[in-house]
Amino acid sequence: MSKKQVCSVDEVAPGTSLRVELEGLPPLAVFNLDGSFYIINDTCSHGEASLCEGEIEDGQVECPWHNARFCIKSGKALTFPAVEPQRAYVTEVSDGMVFLVG
Ligand code: FES
Repeated sequence: MSKKQVCSVDEVAPGTSLRVELEGLPPLAVFNLDGSFYIINDTCSHGEASLCEGEIEDGQVECPWHNARFCIKSGKALTFPAVEPQRAYVTEVSDGMVFLVG
């Protein structure tokens, strides 16, 4: 199991997200929900929109293009037109840094 450093916790304020590109992975969206960090793929499963540009509400992110909503914790597609989930990654925080595990 590998562990990749994604960003520092200070870069993602509560209630916001950060788009991060790491070698060998699709663009990632890092979310801070009340101090807990979650990572899912940033590119919407319905099109090419960046979910980091979407609104965050009640643990969900709304795609800025066609308004599909996804669960930030699980990546599950909750509303049309998206039906495929976003890949969700195991996330770990230590020493002020956010890591992707897997
Ligand atoms: S690109 Fe996200 S809902 Fe269409």
